[in-house]
Amino acid sequence: MAAAGSGATSGHENWSSRSAFILAAVGSAVGLGNMWRFPAEAGENGGGAFVLFYIFCVLLIGLPVLLSEVLIGRHGQASAPDSVRKVAEDSNASKSWSLIGSLGVFAAFLILSFYCVVGGWVVYYIGVFLGDLFQTGLTGGAFEGRAAEDIESLLPGLFGNGSLMVGLNLAFLAATIFFVARGVSSGIEWVAVYLMPMFFLLFLGITIYGAFTGNFGEAVGYLFTFDFSKLTGEVMLAAVGQAFFSLSLGVAGMITYGSYASRNTNLGETSGIIAGADTAVALLAGLAIFPIVFAAGLSASAGPGLMFQSLPIAFQAMPFGSLIGLAFFIMVFFAALTSSVSLLEAPTAFVKDRFGMSRAMATLLVGAGAAVLGVLSSLSFNDMADFRPLGFIPLFAEANFFDALDGVTAKLFMPIGAIMTCIFVGWVADAKLIDDENGLDGVLHQTWRALVRYVCPIILAVILFFGIFG
Ligand code: PHE
Repeated sequence: MAAAGSGATSGHENWSSRSAFILAAVGSAVGLGNMWRFPAEAGENGGGAFVLFYIFCVLLIGLPVLLSEVLIGRHGQASAPDSVRKVAEDSNASKSWSLIGSLGVFAAFLILSFYCVVGGWVVYYIGVFLGDLFQTGLTGGAFEGRAAEDIESLLPGLFGNGSLMVGLNLAFLAATIFFVARGVSSGIEWVAVYLMPMFFLLFLGITIYGAFTGNFGEAVGYLFTFDFSKLTGEVMLAAVGQAFFSLSLGVAGMITYGSYASRNTNLGETSGIIAGADTAVALLAGLAIFPIVFAAGLSASAGPGLMFQSLPIAFQAMPFGSLIGLAFFIMVFFAALTSSVSLLEAPTAFVKDRFGMSRAMATLLVGAGAAVLGVLSSLSFNDMADFRPLGFIPLFAEANFFDALDGVTAKLFMPIGAIMTCIFVGWVADAKLIDDENGLDGVLHQTWRALVRYVCPIILAVILFFGIFG
């Protein structure tokens, strides 16, 4: 049994320690967003300008919003909408602000549905490397004697197989449901505490290997050369969206995780650790993937397939390649799981609190909804490839069902949720209440407050406007 919460809702669960909270939150932030989505977005948006603007967004917008979210959760000690409502009530403000939480919960549900599709691809690659290990043995590189195009074509091969895509998607979702159903300290925390540290070590090793064997110089030039002319409204919106996606912001996830944090956790410091670790992993992923992309002559703008197509080529050249490839995809699986668990937890906590359901029931209910949407996303790579659900919106005109969900959540829900959060925390909520929660003093506190009140909402509104209409 989890310990009773220290806050308003009796029986609200808690992390077992401060480091468990940090690992779980880092686990939520670090996931497919860093390894799969970041390189794909960077490549599709021209490299350097995107990457540097992304870092700018993390520091100036992501970090202040992250602190605002965990702070709301910690004060509220309840699911996201109820936490926002509690802060509003304690500030004598309208309860309707809880809409921030409800919209976030809905967005998390949408993201969960397509996130598990990509999780399914990871499961597929685990299978591929496992099979290869049996075939080529322990010491050789992976995929002995096969051409690079052959390895690249594994992913399109999977995309073409609708029923396999659906099966893998549901398998990944089932794993997520399993851990969330077990609860905060024995399920969610367990995955984070045991698996995240292993992931970091292996990942660092692969990046160092990439640096020595791939085209590292070209990758660094590509990722960090700032070309101002490339910074269009659309690129900026993509970078903000990626910053939010990667930090798990604007979708109630961090409010929910904050609600399990104890009163003696310093939230300012914790937010810094989360954002730092997340950004480090994203940049490492870029530095691991792009040298291989350039050395193998792949296209940087290949999109969603980038990680899945480039890294296996590197594993082919490595000694013990199939073993390292297998270990890598198992680690990616765990990193993805610690994120999908947080995506499922936000709507689950809401359903559980609001309808007085058991955790297991709530998890299953939300999971079943995500399964339905997930099937549609899986099929948008094959049987439903021509379906354009948002064809009437220019920004999403070309998007299939999967891309539409990804685009709408990262480019609309997340920034809009963040703007509302900033206005709420910066202007509406009681200043004393906020000061008591944030763990910052002096200049840091003043800077954070100015960012939340002025800088974040204004920059976000401008980017949103130019990204959509510019
Ligand atoms: N941040 C996660 C990742 O980068 C995805 C995520 C988004 C998780 C929103 C929770 C909420 O993979």
